[in-house]
Amino acid sequence: MNNEMLRKKVDQLTIQEKIGQLIQLTGNFFDKHNDSVVTGPQKKIGLNGSYQIHNTGSILNTVDKQQIIEIQRNHLLKSTHKIPLLFMADIIYGFKTIFPIPLAQTCSWNFPLIEESATVLAKECYEEGIHVTFAPMVDLVRDPRWGRVMEAPGEDTLLGERYAESMVNGIQGNGASQHIPKGKLAACIKHFAAYGAAVAGREYNAVDMSENMLKNFFLPSYAKGIEAGAKLVMTAFNTLNGIPCTGNKWLNRDILRDALDFDGVLISDYAAIDELITHGYAENQTSAAKQALLAGVDIDMKTAVYANELEKLVEQNQELHALLDEAVLRVLILKNDLGLFDDPYRGIQTTEEDMTSVVLSKEHKATALKLAEESIVLLKNNKHTLPLSRNQKVALIGPYAEEKATLGFWAITGDEEDTITLKDGLSTLLDSSCLSVARGAYLLDKHTENLYDKYTDKLPVEREDEEALLEEAIAIAKTSDTIVLAVGENTYQSGEGGSRTNPVLPTTQLRLINALSTLGKPIVLVIYGGRPLILTEVEEKVSAILYAWFPGTMNGLAVANLLTGKANPSAKLSMTFPRSVGQIPIYYNELRTGRPQLDEENKYRFASRYIDQSNLPLYPFGFGKSYTHFQYSDFRLNQEEMTKNEQIKVTLTVKNTGSYSGKEIVQLYICDKVSSITRPVKLLKAFKKIELKVGESQRVEFEIDNDMLKFYRPDGSFDSESGDFDIFIGKDSAEHLFKRKIRLVSKHTT
Ligand code: BGC
Repeated sequence: MNNEMLRKKVDQLTIQEKIGQLIQLTGNFFDKHNDSVVTGPQKKIGLNGSYQIHNTGSILNTVDKQQIIEIQRNHLLKSTHKIPLLFMADIIYGFKTIFPIPLAQTCSWNFPLIEESATVLAKECYEEGIHVTFAPMVDLVRDPRWGRVMEAPGEDTLLGERYAESMVNGIQGNGASQHIPKGKLAACIKHFAAYGAAVAGREYNAVDMSENMLKNFFLPSYAKGIEAGAKLVMTAFNTLNGIPCTGNKWLNRDILRDALDFDGVLISDYAAIDELITHGYAENQTSAAKQALLAGVDIDMKTAVYANELEKLVEQNQELHALLDEAVLRVLILKNDLGLFDDPYRGIQTTEEDMTSVVLSKEHKATALKLAEESIVLLKNNKHTLPLSRNQKVALIGPYAEEKATLGFWAITGDEEDTITLKDGLSTLLDSSCLSVARGAYLLDKHTENLYDKYTDKLPVEREDEEALLEEAIAIAKTSDTIVLAVGENTYQSGEGGSRTNPVLPTTQLRLINALSTLGKPIVLVIYGGRPLILTEVEEKVSAILYAWFPGTMNGLAVANLLTGKANPSAKLSMTFPRSVGQIPIYYNELRTGRPQLDEENKYRFASRYIDQSNLPLYPFGFGKSYTHFQYSDFRLNQEEMTKNEQIKVTLTVKNTGSYSGKEIVQLYICDKVSSITRPVKLLKAFKKIELKVGESQRVEFEIDNDMLKFYRPDGSFDSESGDFDIFIGKDSAEHLFKRKIRLVSKHTT
């Protein structure tokens, strides 16, 4: 159908039927066996009539194909106009084959591989009958107290943009075409906007930021996802400069629709329209419905606000009726782009054979393994503690040694039983006589932070004697050459609703680390977590640290491959690791100050510094070690001056001078020396991930062009400004191996 035909379809609908298209409910609103309506959930959210359920346009988080078939079939039997339901779900980093959490994925800086993971995700969902995934989440994050950093691409704008683009391409795969091909889903960019900047990292808290910050740092990743063709955008829970995003006309109409040219479906976050009232922005549900519609929100996720309020609003107001029609048209266009009018059961495979050929297939697991290996960051490796050798006696200790819950908070469709544990992974690579295992400590402290009730049954209630656990661990550690200590935070300590004031390892695990560190044996910490944890206290007590994040289904194998050198770590941090909570928010691309601290030794009081701690993070953005060594040399620029139409070529040689083949991520940062608005101390502008065998070298080339130098200026224009720029080349954001000045000129003088 073309848009004209769809528009006619909208005209044929009654007001109630139109509103229905904008309602999104969960599967439990629909009886499994016939068309009677479950009254419990309906009452709970306050839906007035069952006709609203018959008219519903989309379903949230029903991910079982039998249920999907049943709900769709019942719906179509009743639906006068035979408009199929859309099934949307949060499949953020894998359906059954679970990939590392997004924050880990971006540490790979391998965006083609990230795109491949999204392709796998889409394929597995497609066969289950899911149409839309609420991914990618592309909120820029600078505060590791916020639990949702685990599902974000990190603190850098360029990495955020690349992540948004790769995910949309992998999920939708439709390029310029309007229709979403077989095996693909519609993608949803979220959360619009700036949700990652919640004050003090506290979940759902307000966001207050300048237009400079918003436009130059936070908006570009959403913009990139939209440019890549994402069919949906989701609003954010937070207020932005005082106005809740879900009722924010400026944000959603002027910026999203007009400036970013988004013409797809804007869906509210879960119950966010109703929350306009709790925000103190709407007096009641009638005004919440009006504000959301005026702000351009098409679908109301999981409240009765549109369902109960829109009818009387549009009957009284032609302008609102026109907005309703527009919103309905956008939903129908999405359904049409997915081909649902031709096949409402799009993609669903019903035979077991079909399913197993895709879900958790060998190929999918191979992609997950590769991405996990490239996402896990080697933070420390003193005296070549790693890699382990095959016949080294290893004591594998810690609550994560045999833990299967390493999928991370948003893997709602993943099955922990499919996870390879670290013990299983290591067992395949070390001689069996060399590996002994002990738990040593519990995952959580006894009186731990209040984890969301629903999950408390997952916490160990009955505890054995913790002393006995510790003693057993010490005993096996004593007979080993090396201790591999697998520790970390629990899955439910990060993710939505997982803000922490003090993101450190649990006390019980710190006690274990302390006890083992007195034995004089090398300790390799393998750390699991959904955020950069504060490791200052443990860092100096161990010889090596491998930061595993939540690595997904292939956990144990990926970590074991890295520990034993079967794979060489190549990941680099996409988010800074602070030394202390007091340094947060901390990020590499901070704005310049009038009184910078010139160097760490400079103890001049009146500089921008702390008197009780260094300004430097524990591990900077872009940092990550390898088992081999990469030497950078022969840095050149083809010219030092360029006009807006020219480019400067930057070249250097990178040589693998160590004894393992490996991958290196060469990073290029730029600092705008003088501009009409203060720019950051440096900004990542390009990077290259290269692979070099032992002794091999490669010439790496970057091209600096005018686009790289542009920014949103105070007058609203997006442009570069003539003058000097510093270019830095390095292995991370802190250590610059080469620095050179270039100049942007309006025309050459000689
Ligand atoms: C989250 C969204 C998610 C939605 C639907 C909300 O609580 O903020 O990211 O897509 O729930 O499950």
